[in-house]
Amino acid sequence: MISKNLEKAINEQIKLEEQSSRIYMAMASWCEVNGLAGAAKFLYAHSDEERDHMLKFVHFLNDRGGHAQLQELEAPGHSWNSLEELFKSVLDHERYVTSKINDLVDICLEEKDHTTNSFLQWFVTEQIEEESLAQEIVDKIKLVGESKGGNFHLDMFLSGLAQAEAGA
Ligand code: FEO
Repeated sequence: MISKNLEKAINEQIKLEEQSSRIYMAMASWCEVNGLAGAAKFLYAHSDEERDHMLKFVHFLNDRGGHAQLQELEAPGHSWNSLEELFKSVLDHERYVTSKINDLVDICLEEKDHTTNSFLQWFVTEQIEEESLAQEIVDKIKLVGESKGGNFHLDMFLSGLAQAEAGA
């Protein structure tokens, strides 16, 4: 049986994962209307992945005797000045998510809840990948700069990443 304290904290994480899904969908939509098909494909796939993260928490909490409850969400942003600005926001957001996962692990350690701690380790590992991928994309965007050919290849690269994520 999960503690009330952890139940509340996991419900907050469910909200954050759902919010992440909306943020990435809003970003995907902006890319789609700005001719960035590959980036849009990647971000739509990433939005789906965040929904999967949310569901993992929902099922875990309900299985452990808690009650997953959805909450009101804030409206995400609708536009960005550049792809670089957009992906820097993704990186900042993922760093924030990592900090919240770490906070959850801290609560588990305080409460000696080894079951929830074990469940959370999947997310600890996942966040390494999430941050590293966002950083890699920001680095590539900086590398291509204003080059039209470079940006074309960047969009192809993002499209390929979306396919790889879907097959993962
Ligand atoms: Fe579910 Fe991208 O963190």
